[in-house]
Amino acid sequence: MISKHILLAVSGGIAAYKAAELVRLLRKQAFDVRVVMTKSAQAFISPLTFQALSGHPVGTQLLDENQEHVMGHINLARWADSVLVAPATANCIAKFSHGLSDDLVSTLVLAATCPVFVAPAMNQAMWNKAVTQENVTRLNRDGFRFIGPATGEQACGEIGYGRMAEPPVICETLSQFFSREEGELSGKKVLISAGPTREPIDPVRFITNRSSGKMGFALAEAAIEAGAIVTLVSGPVALAPPLNCRIINVESAAQMHEAVIAVAPGSDVYIGAAAVADYSPNANQPEKIKKNETTLILELFKTRDILADVAAFQEQRPFTVGFAAETHDLERYAKDKLAKKNLDMIAANWVGKDQGGFDRDQNALQVYWKGGEKHLEMTDKSQLARQLIKLIAEKMNEKNTT
Ligand code: PMT
Repeated sequence: MISKHILLAVSGGIAAYKAAELVRLLRKQAFDVRVVMTKSAQAFISPLTFQALSGHPVGTQLLDENQEHVMGHINLARWADSVLVAPATANCIAKFSHGLSDDLVSTLVLAATCPVFVAPAMNQAMWNKAVTQENVTRLNRDGFRFIGPATGEQACGEIGYGRMAEPPVICETLSQFFSREEGELSGKKVLISAGPTREPIDPVRFITNRSSGKMGFALAEAAIEAGAIVTLVSGPVALAPPLNCRIINVESAAQMHEAVIAVAPGSDVYIGAAAVADYSPNANQPEKIKKNETTLILELFKTRDILADVAAFQEQRPFTVGFAAETHDLERYAKDKLAKKNLDMIAANWVGKDQGGFDRDQNALQVYWKGGEKHLEMTDKSQLARQLIKLIAEKMNEKNTT
């Protein structure tokens, strides 16, 4: 039975009425819920509604005469096992991203040391604005966990991303988050790279590969299931991000390098499942290349090897797992990468015509580590990912106890 404390922060959007249903669902899952509201949220729904549904007084003021002698806002932040901001307006997200604390909700979020979940709700144009996306990217990097937004018809009549995720989805995300404490990677921080990279040739063209991200995303799901706290650094893919996963979206090999190297030092495991470009035009070409010549020669430069750079960490080196995608001599190349890049483990897959690997739902892996190997049969990537995560947990424990 879950008996965690959820501090629900309601901000001022039309979706505020859905927060009442959310409180009911969370309490049904045995969460203890306390509610705080912004001033504008109170224009949409009354604090009394939340008081009745949560069974607790509702916080609306930063400086509460009844609470301040015990630093009410700080105490509430300490009480929470998780803060959930639903709905979260564009204004709220901007405040969190800039560290503002001029009301109870923003102060609590700034003071919170527990996981903060954010369920955005706003007009689709506001969600798509570059400044909002920059705020979201920054918060993602700081460890905030976004749930949604969903797409569909909005209260304003427009259609697009910006609808608050439905209360059952938000409730399920929190239940899953708190019930994952039992798995083989319980509490471990796992960093996974997934998908392809795009190397710009000019402002409209790029070099890429056939990776769909399915293998990396399946590994993220499996690691979450095993109790891990997962960060997924993903190239451009058409997949929905797993629940309970911090996701950092990147495009180029250089951006992926920067994101992985920033997060890797705090991670217990790094799995490099991304198909990172080995070479890039490294282009700083401001204009579209014109079709004037009969031939065009592109000069390509070797990209930095993310996996080798993580494995070379002198301090805080995560258990480092690489992938090898080969069309021939699978074993020889995989073992070579394992040794040369100083990895703890490598998962090798055949790629190319009629093989698993790229852009398929199924795959098979030949896994090597120093002194051992294991074949994982052709199966769905989700099933395969569970087997690989189990093996990683096993070998990591062996390494830590020897
Ligand atoms: O995404 P899917 O469609 O599901 O396909 C899955 C997959 C085939 C992409 C996946 O299973 C896989 O094999 N990923 C690694 C692909 C690859 O780039 O392999 P490689 O042998 O070229 O590279 C070896 C390792 O070095 C990989 O872990 C790669 O992430 C890493 N690398 C490569 C270049 C670089 N600059 N930095 C790196 O970290």
